[in-house]
Amino acid sequence: MYAITGITGKVGGTLARTLLADGRPVRAVVRDARKGEEWAALGCEVAIAAMQDASALTAALSGTKAVFILPPSEFDPQPGYPEAKKVIGAVVEALTTAKPGRVLCLSTVGADVTRDNLLSQRTMMEAALSTLPMPVTFLRPGWFLENASGDVATALETGVIHSFLMPLDKHFPMVATRDVGRVAAKLIQEDWTGTRIVEMEGPCRVSPNDLAAAFARVLGTPVRAEIVPRETWEDLFRSQGMKYPGPRIRMLDGFNEGWIDFSSGGANAIKGTVSVEEVVASLVQS
Ligand SMILES: NC(=O)c1ccc[n+]([C@@H]2O[C@H](COP(=O)([O-])OP(=O)(O)OC[C@H]3O[C@@H](n4cnc5c(N)ncnc54)[C@H](OP(=O)(O)O)[C@@H]3O)[C@@H](O)[C@H]2O)c1
Repeated sequence: MYAITGITGKVGGTLARTLLADGRPVRAVVRDARKGEEWAALGCEVAIAAMQDASALTAALSGTKAVFILPPSEFDPQPGYPEAKKVIGAVVEALTTAKPGRVLCLSTVGADVTRDNLLSQRTMMEAALSTLPMPVTFLRPGWFLENASGDVATALETGVIHSFLMPLDKHFPMVATRDVGRVAAKLIQEDWTGTRIVEMEGPCRVSPNDLAAAFARVLGTPVRAEIVPRETWEDLFRSQGMKYPGPRIRMLDGFNEGWIDFSSGGANAIKGTVSVEEVVASLVQS
């Protein structure tokens, strides 16, 4: 049995559908029983657990060959990352008691960085899970191409996408969530010992200009990227409701300044196959 958290999301959904297509038994771990119904219809067992609930998670992860841990995103964390710490505590307690055969945890590019930033939440998760007795893989994908979903409206309406990544011709490690889910399905079925780290990015690196060009090709109209000036970020994020914009700003600085990247510039990263244009086309379609 493979227990999959985050199954109603992009990566977990692709992972679970790939396992089901391979004929593997899947337990859908959902926090909302209604969202479990479509997975039950596909032949999954369903377990109800939030990632902060150690006892429900223990039941959900028990009796399994392998589990997939997807830590929930927290873009506006309080100082000291209490939200991530609560999830980490529950996950460690659940894995310690449930004793699955192996663990695949979704992490991120930059989880190895020591400078404090939004991704420090995954640095903490990796450190905690590395102490567990069972084999653990941390899958570290690059920036999700689907983050461009927020650009569809302005690309359509104004022919501009607004970029926090800069300079506009700098190529960043990005990847489609479909690629991440498919690779996760392969990794979770492998045998390994101890702790391993797997880096993953798309078939080629992507600049903000490349992203704009992909929108232009898909929409058939001119689209250009424009930088959102760094000095406006804090006010902008606060005006959008963020209370603690610092970690997110430091993460963006990390990508732009290059201290968030894969080791050896991605030479050791698994490469996906889904192109930026395919992702943009599906974002525009949906
Ligand atoms: N965005 C990036 O560029 C990037 C890059 C590298 C790594 N990542 C990592 O990728 C992950 C996000 O993956 P994704 O895009 O596939 O996610 P997604 O599509 O946003 O889906 C999130 C999933 O997590 C579930 N979830 C959220 N909070 C939960 C909670 N408290 N308890 C239980 N389940 C909860 C959601 O369930 P509901 O349906 O109930 O909401 C959903 O299944 C994060 O861990 C993030 O750090 C992101």
